[in-house]
Formats: sequence, structure tokens, C-alpha cells
Amino acid sequence: MEKKNVLSGIQPSGVITLGNYVGAVRNWSLLQQEDRFCYYCVANLHAITVRQDPTELKRRTRAMAAMLLACGVDPKRSALFIQSDVPEHSQLSWVLNCYTYMGELSRMTQFKDKSAKNEDNINAGLFTYPVLMAADILLYRSSFVPVGHDQKQHVEIARDIAIRFNNAFGETFVVPEPLIPNLGGRVMSLAEPTKKMSKSDPNPNAFIAFTDDQKTIMKKFKRAVTDSEGCIAYNPQTQPGVANLLSIFCIFTGKTMDEALAYFEGQGYGHLKTAVAEAVIETLTPLRLEYERYLADEVYMETILREGAKQARTLAQKTLSLVYDKVGIGI
Ligand code: TYM
Repeated sequence: MEKKNVLSGIQPSGVITLGNYVGAVRNWSLLQQEDRFCYYCVANLHAITVRQDPTELKRRTRAMAAMLLACGVDPKRSALFIQSDVPEHSQLSWVLNCYTYMGELSRMTQFKDKSAKNEDNINAGLFTYPVLMAADILLYRSSFVPVGHDQKQHVEIARDIAIRFNNAFGETFVVPEPLIPNLGGRVMSLAEPTKKMSKSDPNPNAFIAFTDDQKTIMKKFKRAVTDSEGCIAYNPQTQPGVANLLSIFCIFTGKTMDEALAYFEGQGYGHLKTAVAEAVIETLTPLRLEYERYLADEVYMETILREGAKQARTLAQKTLSLVYDKVGIGI
């Protein structure tokens, strides 16, 4: 049986949040199985579509790789690398740009959101962001792309580009599929539960960061915005804050929603918040300690990332040369 490849990426635009973890990164580690090759990258080229401090970007890129190791990305079963260490990403992205339409890029909701937030810097990179992401995915012949719900549209455009290219030049790319968890595919902000939790949110109380200690996690959950209904029920439309806390509780305890509702019957929001915080603390604390250990071991990090990039490049070079050949680039 042919091995199926998996690829995913994360921007080093901050620290892994609870949303990143349950929406995507937890699945990255679960997908590492015998019958698959996994490629996981820190998408630093994507990060510069918004302004970054150069020293801080370098530090965050390295820290993000250490966080991914702590979350269970296993260098023996996956290639973990920094996107810019494999130049084929940018090279394929250029070719794919020529097979992507302005119209489809202007329909991307992330482009619309980010342009609204960065009115003074609506750059072309922000616009062609999904094309670079398509290159990330298609270079590795990935069948599966584990992501949160907000990246679904980007994986869909990667599919459209792959199909369009295959139709023009014959079978070249594997057409990828997004893998989005039913529960946890869209974790909401603790401060504004109608918005998704985001690592670049200026309000630190809106998200749980991977680096938060136990006291901070408890404090943030206790402050989480709920509602005035006073009843613990799962109604994402009318009680988004409570529904978010219940979902997080289920994910971290392995309980079903029915079991969770039975567990909290007759209880107040204070109890719900403490129980969710305790469940999250129990899982995240050992991961945070692992992260600190990886971060301190610069030599190990260096070796893993260099080896990961080397492994990734082997396949990336093959795919790019096939593409160049099909398009007629080279002599
Ligand atoms: P990024 O860095 O914003 O987020 C990394 C992953 O976390 C998921 N995620 C969430 N899931 C659930 N609830 C949330 N509140 C939440 N917030 C974020 C994201 O869906 C994502 O899976 N463009 C990508 C990075 C990327 C990539 C790729 C992904 C670059 N190249 C190739 C897949 C394949 C991004 O900005 O993710």
C-alpha cells in the first residue's frame, strides 16, 4: 500500500495557543503512524505578510519548533523544519501564482480580515499567501492537511490549484484533503467568544498560551466571558462562551458532550471554569516543561531542524523538478 503523506504548518507569530493545540497540533502528533510520512513546518515566510521585528521573528521561529517537539512531533517519524530552509517553497509558489486567479484570491476570508486589520499594509504577500500555502502542501504530495477550521478555505484553494494544474499537464500533484476535528476545530476567544482564539490577539486574556503557568491558566479561565443565562447548556449560538468552555472540557477530559452536561448539571459557571482550567493545566503543564528543556538545548534543536530540512528537501526538489519539466522551465 502506498504511504500517504501529511503536511501542516504554523506561523511563528506568537506562542501556540489552546486553539492551535486542539485544532491542529495535537492531531499532528496523532497522525504520525507507520503508514504515513509527516512533514511539519514553521511557516516563517508566511509570518512576514504582517510586519515583524526581525530579532523577535528569529527567536519565535526557534521557540515554535521547540513547542512542536514538546507537543509530540517526533523527529524520528516526521520531518520538522523551518519553511525558509527549503527554498523550493518559494520557487513552487511562483509557478503556482501563474495558475491562480485574482478573483479566487480576493474571495479568501483571511485576506479580507487581515486587510481590514492592516489597512496601512495591504501588501501583495498578504494577497498571494494562500498560493505559498498551496506550495507547502503540494510539494510533499500530501493527502492530508491537519488544520483548524479557519484554514479550510486555504486547503480548498490548494485543491483547486492542484486539480487545475493536473488537468493542464497530466497527473502531477496529489489532491489534498483538510483534516479538521469536529470538536475543537474552532476554539473561541475567552474574552470575546464570538471570535476565534488567536495567538496574535493583543489581549492576553483572550487566549491560553502554551507558556502560561498554572496560576495564569486558572486566572484566565476564571475571567472567561460567559453570559447571564446562569445555566450550563451547549448552545453555541446563544451561549457561545459556555459552549466554548464545555467543548474545551470535553477535549481535555475525553468526555462526550452528554457526559459533560450530566457532570455539570445543577452547577454554576464558577465550577465549570475551575474544572476546565484544571483539565487544561493537567495536560499542558508537562508539555510546557518539555518545551523549556528543548528550548535550552540549542545543539539538539539545530540538529533536528537541519536534518528535517534535508529530509523535506529531498521530496521538495523532486516535485519542483517535475513541475518545471511539465511547464517547460529549464533547458
Ligand atoms: P496559524 O499559525 O494561524 O495556526 C496554526 C494552526 O492552528 C489552527 N488554529 C485553530 N484551530 C482551532 N481553533 C482556533 N482558534 C485556532 N486558531 C488557529 C489553524 O487552523 C492552523 O491549522 N496559514 C497557516 C499556517 C500554514 C499552513 C501551511 C497550514 C502555512 N502553511 C500549510 C497548513 C498547511 C496559519 O496561519 O496557521
